Amino acid sequence: MSGHGEAIAMVARRGAALRGVAEVPGDKSISHRALILGALSVGETRVTGLLEGQDVLDTAKAMRAFGAEVERQGAGAWSVRGVGVGGFAEPSEVIDCGNSGTGVRLIMGCMATSPITATFTGDASLRKRPMGRVTEPLALFGAEAYGRKGGRLPMTVVGAVDPMPVRYATPMPSAQVKSAVLLAGLNAPGETVVIEREPTRDHTERMLRGFGAEISVEQVPEGRLIRLVGQPELRAQPVAVPRDPSSAAFPVCAALIVPESNILVPGVSQNPTRNGLFTTLVEMGADIGFDNPREEGGEPVADLRVRFSALRGVEVPPERAASMIDEYPVLAVVAACAEGRTVMRGVKELRVKESDRIDAMARGLEACGVRVEEDEDTLIVHGLGAGGVPGGATCATHIDHRIAMAFLVLGLASQRSVTVDDGSPIATSFPVFEALMAGLGADIARVVP
Ligand code: S3P
Repeated sequence: MSGHGEAIAMVARRGAALRGVAEVPGDKSISHRALILGALSVGETRVTGLLEGQDVLDTAKAMRAFGAEVERQGAGAWSVRGVGVGGFAEPSEVIDCGNSGTGVRLIMGCMATSPITATFTGDASLRKRPMGRVTEPLALFGAEAYGRKGGRLPMTVVGAVDPMPVRYATPMPSAQVKSAVLLAGLNAPGETVVIEREPTRDHTERMLRGFGAEISVEQVPEGRLIRLVGQPELRAQPVAVPRDPSSAAFPVCAALIVPESNILVPGVSQNPTRNGLFTTLVEMGADIGFDNPREEGGEPVADLRVRFSALRGVEVPPERAASMIDEYPVLAVVAACAEGRTVMRGVKELRVKESDRIDAMARGLEACGVRVEEDEDTLIVHGLGAGGVPGGATCATHIDHRIAMAFLVLGLASQRSVTVDDGSPIATSFPVFEALMAGLGADIARVVP
């Protein structure tokens, strides 16, 4: 899986309306953090609803390599016995984070202020992604990093023996960078401060507070300022992982573009740092009901009732990008099925995800008969209206789960089928995608060679 195994070509065809209930798995960001914070705590953290995708399983393995006891007790039910802040042991093996940028960057953060050395690697996609964005701030704590040209994996990080606290303004909107600095700050004396110009997902801050760290957030003229008091004793906590809004995005968008669909997607996060896609879809004219608002696992959630809708293109404001950064591929698909053009600006971070997502979406959409425009920081999709996309192409997924799922969703609403060259990376974030979509009546199948 995640680029190590056999490629699995998959094909999606237009068929019946989508109906039923889509219970999507646990949130990937929160699942990584539950294992990591559990490993840095004293006592036993019991996690329920953990996403058992390959990315998270790789983080579980890594936490064992640093000395935590991590055990699976049942479906989504995991126990972590932590080593406490500063208690990480030096791993005797290379840490392979597979496809996961979140995994590797957060783990680098939490070992960088301990006097240990670790070597990290990943699959062909992760080995292309920039690590300098985390090793630069980690150097301010006193850590050293030795990687391949351009700050690429494999990379060895030598943790600081006498870490200093840090004040750091993130140069790009990135929850991974922010989180790496905060996790490093845990084992530094004094106060570590991170300032982010635009808010990014705040799960690390919420969960650190839940595990007993002293952490405060205030709005200052430069943005969001986060203060963390170093060397706390983190206390093990039960974590109920809510469902992943970034996974919910796929059945939600599929139902919007497949005629006569009507589905229910329960428990979708309405955390304002994650819900930009839903705001955008409503602006496009999507018929989405947000029922039963409540709190689950410390996150605001609602049940989404989604019906097929006639959509129109919109301008997505760049300041919304961070709150929907993983959802642009599937938004581009929805945009292709809307009337008029959809303009996505301020999205250059998409170029350093599991693939260059602007390029991957532009090439695949063009192959399916959709006109697109792009520049470094922008993607514009000229919509063809409901049922207007010709399809009939094979799209390259570049070891990127969200590109694969986005084009399969497009195939459900195109005139001719859409094939993806490799659906195996879907298992990194949404291992039950095929079964869940089949349960709604979608025609998605593996191509038998
Ligand atoms: C994540 C942060 C985002 C996102 C990724 C998960 C996280 O990445 O794309 O899927 O869990 O912190 P960046 O921090 O690079 O924007």
